[in-house]
Amino acid sequence: MTMTYFRKAIIPAAGFGTRFLPISKTVPKEMLPVGDKPVIQYVVEEAVEAGLTEILIVISRGKEAIPDYFARNPELERRLESTGKGDLAAGLRRLSEMARIHYIYQNEMKGLGDAVLQGRAFAGDEPFGVLLGDTFITPAKGGGRSSATLARLLETLMERKTSAVAVEPVPADRVARYGVAGGEEIAPGIFQVSQMVEKPEPGKAPAVRLLSGESGPSRHYAFAARYVFTPGLFAELEQTVPGKNGEIQLTDAMTALMDKEGFHAVELDGVRRDIGNPEGLRQALS
Ligand code: UTP
Repeated sequence: MTMTYFRKAIIPAAGFGTRFLPISKTVPKEMLPVGDKPVIQYVVEEAVEAGLTEILIVISRGKEAIPDYFARNPELERRLESTGKGDLAAGLRRLSEMARIHYIYQNEMKGLGDAVLQGRAFAGDEPFGVLLGDTFITPAKGGGRSSATLARLLETLMERKTSAVAVEPVPADRVARYGVAGGEEIAPGIFQVSQMVEKPEPGKAPAVRLLSGESGPSRHYAFAARYVFTPGLFAELEQTVPGKNGEIQLTDAMTALMDKEGFHAVELDGVRRDIGNPEGLRQALS
C-alpha cells in the first residue's frame, strides 16, 4: 500500500445517467454489476488499495442505493450467523468496513466541477484524489494492480507538489469526446501539462511531445477518470463560470489551477472501463 500523509478521495456519482435510461430511473448506473460486484465497489476498492480510506461519495436524489449498499445491516448479519452462514455475514461486514465512507448530495446536477466542489469541507486544506464513480480500471495484461495509476498520481503530487491527472492516448478523430491535455513528457509516462481543452474540435486538440525524439513524435492524451488535487482547486471551482448547459467544467478549474501552481499528467497503467454508456458496459462485461 502506498504510504501517503493524506487519505481522502472524492467519488462523484451524482449524474443523471441519461445514457442508461430507463434503467437509471431506479438503478444508479454506478450500481450496475460487473461480475459479482457493482461498479462503484471496484472504485472504492481501488481508492482503498492506494491508501485513500476516507471517502466522500457525491450522490443525488434517487441514488440512495449507493449508501444503502455500503451500510451495515446488523439484522441481516445476525440472521446469517444464526443460520450457519457466518462467512456471508463476515463478507458483508468487510464490505462496510473497508473504508470510512461519507455522503453528500449535489442538489442540482451542475456538472462534474460542481460535484467535486461539494467536497470542499470534507477535503479541508489537504490534497485529495478524485475517482469518477462510473469508471473502474482493470490491471494491464501481465498483472499489476488496479490502483497502480492512482498510486503514481499520488507519488507525482508528493514529489512534484502539483495536482495531476491520469491520461491515455486517444486517436485524433476521437478527441472531441474527452478533456485533452497538451505538454511535454518529462520522465517516462509523466507529463508536464501546459494546455487543457475540454472536448476540442478535431484539428484543434493539444498534443504531448514525447521523450523519444526532440521534434516529435507527439500524441493526443485524454483525461482518464482519475485525478489528485491540491486544495487550491476549490478556489478555482468557486470562480469557474458555468458553461454549456449551465455546467461547471472541472477542466476550466484545472486550467486555472495549472496557471497558478503547475500541473502534471500520468499515463494510465491498466485498462479504463467507462460504464457510463451501454457500449462501455458491454465491453467491461466481455
Ligand atoms: P458523466 O457526464 O459521464 O455522467 O459524468 P452523467 O451526467 O451521469 O451522464 P449522462 O450524460 O447523463 O449519461 C462523469 C461522472 O461525474 C458524475 C457522474 O455521476 C459520473 O460518475 N457527475 C456528473 C456528477 O456527480 N455530477 C454532475 O453534475 C455530472
